[in-house]
Amino acid sequence: MKKYSSDYCSRICSKKTIIIVCLIGFTVAFSCTSALYIPSVNHVTPHASLSELQSGRKQYIRKCAGCHTLYLPEKYSKEQWVYWVDKMDSKVKMDSIEKDEILKYVNHGKYGR
Ligand code: HEC
Repeated sequence: MKKYSSDYCSRICSKKTIIIVCLIGFTVAFSCTSALYIPSVNHVTPHASLSELQSGRKQYIRKCAGCHTLYLPEKYSKEQWVYWVDKMDSKVKMDSIEKDEILKYVNHGKYGR
């Protein structure tokens, strides 16, 4: 009986446990990034193309997640984003194109020329 239960555990429980842990991991990882909208043609404006928005999202995740959580685009107004990204400019290495694309992304395409 003892043998059965330890066999049972290593055969079934451990596999199950691994699967459950993986599922939780994926769910957490997915829900973290899914809150950051993925640009589609619906977000394209005269100010921002789809590729600029896609690149902006990539840059935002790459450059801005190092020190604090990624703030949701919805959290700030356009003026606030300009203020904060300007302020972060001294902490993050980004060129003016990357900065521009990040601002386009967090402003849902409502920023730019
Ligand atoms: C080197 C670390 C670092 C990196 C990288 C960084 N930040 Fe920050 N961020 C900070 C710190 C520290 C604060 C606290 C406020 C301050 O600096 O006055 C902050 C604050 C903020 C805030 C204001 C949060 C509030 O209090 O409402 C925003 C928005 C923000 N960062 C956006 C960004 C963006 C966008 C990027 C990428 C371009 C970025 N951060 C990259 C360190 C960083």
